[in-house]
Amino acid sequence: MRYPLSIACFLIAFAGFGQNSDLPSDFLNKGFHKERRQKLRETLPPNSVAVLFANPVRNRANDVDFVYHQDPDFYYLTGYKEPDAVLFVFKEKQTAANKSSYDEILFVQPRNELREMWTGRRLGDAGVKDVLGFEQAFNNTEFKRYNIDFEKFDKILFFDFKNDVRDNPRDSSDLYDLISQFKMKVKYPEKSSLTLTPEPQKQNLDVKGLAEAMASLRGIKTKEEIEMIKRAVQISCVGQVEVMKAMKPGMSEREIQGIHEFVFKKYQAEDLGYPSIVGAGHNGCILHYIDNYKPNITSKELILMDLGAEFHGYSADITRTIPVNGKFSQEQKQIYELVLKAQEEAMKICKPGTPRQQLTIVCREVINKGLFELGILKSETEKHMYFPHGVCHHIGLDVHDRGGPNLEENNTVTIEPGIYIPDNSPCDKKWWGIAVRIEDDYLLTKDGYEHLSTFAPRTVKDIEAMMKMPSALDGFTLPDLEKKN
Ligand code: GLY
Ligand code: MN
Ligand code: MN
Repeated sequence: MRYPLSIACFLIAFAGFGQNSDLPSDFLNKGFHKERRQKLRETLPPNSVAVLFANPVRNRANDVDFVYHQDPDFYYLTGYKEPDAVLFVFKEKQTAANKSSYDEILFVQPRNELREMWTGRRLGDAGVKDVLGFEQAFNNTEFKRYNIDFEKFDKILFFDFKNDVRDNPRDSSDLYDLISQFKMKVKYPEKSSLTLTPEPQKQNLDVKGLAEAMASLRGIKTKEEIEMIKRAVQISCVGQVEVMKAMKPGMSEREIQGIHEFVFKKYQAEDLGYPSIVGAGHNGCILHYIDNYKPNITSKELILMDLGAEFHGYSADITRTIPVNGKFSQEQKQIYELVLKAQEEAMKICKPGTPRQQLTIVCREVINKGLFELGILKSETEKHMYFPHGVCHHIGLDVHDRGGPNLEENNTVTIEPGIYIPDNSPCDKKWWGIAVRIEDDYLLTKDGYEHLSTFAPRTVKDIEAMMKMPSALDGFTLPDLEKKN
């Protein structure tokens, strides 16, 4: 798009556009990100450099892009939330042409008054120095000319390139260009795939080691991160509680989703950790059901609600399953209590040293035994058919966060058993359409865990009691829309 000169002149008046006094001041501070870069540096092999790129901007349709979300590794190490950037973390100090020394550099998108008026404020190189505390920060337009002797490194660690990076022909230093320039600088062997060959043809390029290093860092949460995760969890629990109070037959899945997400926004959660899952009746049997389109949920159904607020980058992941009419039927209660028992058994071994996989094994034992006793499972070959997923993953900047296979102090994880009995399953039809998942979030302590999501009721008794409480939405109505014909 072209802009008339008069608009361009007018925009020059917005010299202070990059400053934003409306921003919340409780994000992770620059000291956190700097310390995380230092920790990464400590894990790097001698004579190496780690290189991380910002996430691409993804297109939604035509000239509308998806809301930009930074790559979590990049955010963790920089605090930078804008696109078209690249970070270098050097193991050893490097010497610049002017003899100054440095061990990290960030290249970012430049300030641009015109673009900022359309798409939002940018920090630019000066802002990155000031706000994020980088000593060496440059506009990405400098990257092409910036001289780094990559041949001298024994290892250049980076993630293999994403395959959905688009070139903006009007921008010669966008992510696509930064990657192309980087490939030229390191003599990336374009014709062979680094991921398909066991050894990269160029010996100092390493596309594997960085994932391991980031997992060992990000799996162990710092005090500041734990505060963020606790906030995301609390917010998500309030959403579950408000829905329990507001739930009525005849509501739509979309409306329930909206109540949760309104609560998230009310508490200033910027985003969702993942698309919200709100499935009534047999829709709950679809593990990642995100259509949420059933218009009228009926009195006798259960509704499975798996939602997590993302607060300042950190996600909760909580599931509650409740009866639409406020009271579990006998069959619903039997299934619910079996899932709850599996979760309670897994909680007993939730402590440092336990392999995460072990929690799934324990839940499977409880659920298989219970389903045999109820006559729902009839043979060994049917085992796991109603419970096809694992129960424990890390949460953090990603809802399925990086982290190790064994539980460690200061991990934040889920325990989420479930039973899903689709219509036409080979069991008595009184069980059909029952889907239950119970998912809670935990912080691993020295010898056990802190259960973070207790604010959202979890037992049959507590859920039924909460559903009797008055709701702020009682009597809330909106006008009918005009009907055509
Ligand atoms: N909400 C996705 C999951 O529970 O893993
Ligand atoms: Mn989960
Ligand atoms: Mn979940």
